[in-house]
Amino acid sequence: MGKDNTQEMQKPKHIVVVMDGNGRWAKKRFMPRTAGHKAGVNATRELVKACVEKSIDALTIFAFSSENWKRPDQEVSSLMELFLTTLQSEVKELHEQSVRMCFIGDVGAFSEKLQNKIRQAEDLTRDNTGMCLSIAVNYGGRWDVANACKIIAEKVESGEIKSSDVNAELVNQHVALAGLPEPDLFIRTGGDKRISNFLIWQLAYTELYFTDALWPDFDRNELDQALAWFVNRQRRFGKTGDQVEQANKVNC
Ligand code: IPE
Ligand code: IPE
Ligand code: MG
Repeated sequence: MGKDNTQEMQKPKHIVVVMDGNGRWAKKRFMPRTAGHKAGVNATRELVKACVEKSIDALTIFAFSSENWKRPDQEVSSLMELFLTTLQSEVKELHEQSVRMCFIGDVGAFSEKLQNKIRQAEDLTRDNTGMCLSIAVNYGGRWDVANACKIIAEKVESGEIKSSDVNAELVNQHVALAGLPEPDLFIRTGGDKRISNFLIWQLAYTELYFTDALWPDFDRNELDQALAWFVNRQRRFGKTGDQVEQANKVNC
């Protein structure tokens, strides 16, 4: 098998991104944090375009965590405003790129206006066959797992399933992103090496990539560096390296 085929094999189907560092990007420029968030939207638009061009199946981005409500009121309200204007300005073009948009997280906490925009974006793009773009808003990994437990408990209570039916596969079917390939590559910008309550269940076997680049500076070159790093990961899923090499030889 040639090198290109090997790279093709190692192309991630599903990339998840913690877009961190907007505030520091702005601070370095003596600008308000909101300017960093606005610049972050531009980087996000470019990332989506690049992933569509590279035929990535699924991209999941962390836009607002369940803990981000703790920020100053003014920052939270300007972020809400930015979500609204971004949805207004970007959805049409995403639709044209055949992107299917999904929102994960507890969206019920947002204003009616924002919830409507979210639903409209999902409805408009539902039948698109291109990349699946999941946007995590008011999302927390612990909320996600607890929410799955609640739905499963309700099914046990109603007699639809038995408690002995509960296993990892069933939990998988009830957490966010069920139905998508498991995340292959996690990217976090901003230099911190932590998950910050992102997809704690779904990241079990994901390759974790961290870069010091601040989110507004994350460009195609940065993405290519992350993908090049990913190509060289040996994904063993509990097996030995020899077993994996053997299986690769057989597949050639
Ligand atoms: C990420 O950038 C965006 C959101 C959390 C909404 P930050 O706002 O966390 O930027 P830093 O980490 O303060 O630089
Ligand atoms: C994670 O970034 C959340 C998003 C990027 C939306 P944070 O800036 O909130 O993470 P911590 O607080 O540094 O862990
Ligand atoms: Mg941050």
